[in-house]
Amino acid sequence: MEKVYGLLGHPVGHSMSPLIHNDAFSNVGIKANYQAFDVEPEMLEEAITGIKALGIAGCNVTVPHKIAVMKFIDEVDEEAEQIGAVNTIVNQNGKLIGHNTDGRGYVQSLIEETNEDITNKRFLIIGAGGAARGVITALLRYGIGDLTITNRTQDKIEPLLELAKMFQTTANRATRAEVEQNLDQFDVLINTTSIGMSPRIEDSPLSLENLRAGAIASDLIYNPLKTKFLKEAQVRGGKSHTGIGMFVNQAALSFEHWTGVRPDHNRMRKLVLEKLGGTIC
Ligand code: ATR
Repeated sequence: MEKVYGLLGHPVGHSMSPLIHNDAFSNVGIKANYQAFDVEPEMLEEAITGIKALGIAGCNVTVPHKIAVMKFIDEVDEEAEQIGAVNTIVNQNGKLIGHNTDGRGYVQSLIEETNEDITNKRFLIIGAGGAARGVITALLRYGIGDLTITNRTQDKIEPLLELAKMFQTTANRATRAEVEQNLDQFDVLINTTSIGMSPRIEDSPLSLENLRAGAIASDLIYNPLKTKFLKEAQVRGGKSHTGIGMFVNQAALSFEHWTGVRPDHNRMRKLVLEKLGGTIC
């Protein structure tokens, strides 16, 4: 029988997940169908009960349900627990197990696409929301030099510094002005905020005047592919790393959790790029 997989989010209309997962299922020869389900926040518990009742084999979870869903599933793995959010659910014989592939997808993409050894690098994280927590957790689990976090709301940085302590990694907070003044201290700068995302493509989270040539600017945003933040970094001799790899890798890792099969990453990337109107990069 054809298995059913899905995405739980609100809204889900523009999601590219159905496109890449359905293509991956047919490409590896698995009979399955992936659909996007628009679930209102107050219906989330019923939706999860529905997954069990209908025998849906697995799903992705996206905004705004990644945190709330944790209380309705049966088990959460260590990584997702540390991140405090679930983006992938596997239905294991009626038991719903939660994982988080966002952070690992990001770190894989950063390493693959920049060809850098990140273990001794000094990182600057811009933002302290859910996406920042996923990325920081994955970086800490992998092992990095040190970490500085800047955020408009300074209070939100504290729990992330606590997380770094658990991994014995040096971590500091800084204001935007401090960061801009000392920008040459950082090897990798990561924008985890939505600043610069389409349609507000002229916005940038930071002034990059003092960027060190050769530093890596990385953006979680993939629409547009080259944000203003990345373009400015390139102008100043920095290397740029776009958010598309994270999107593809998190999807591929979810697919692996469900099927045990590694899908063709390049094919997924190509589909996303076609949809975004870009070319392979
Ligand atoms: P996500 O799960 O995508 O990380 P989030 O948890 O709402 O979403 O976090 C959004 C992040 O982007 C936060 O760090 C937020 O800063 P605040 O904590 O001060 O809200 C940051 N952010 C979003 N819009 C911003 C803006 N216009 N200026 C500065 N920071 C912004």
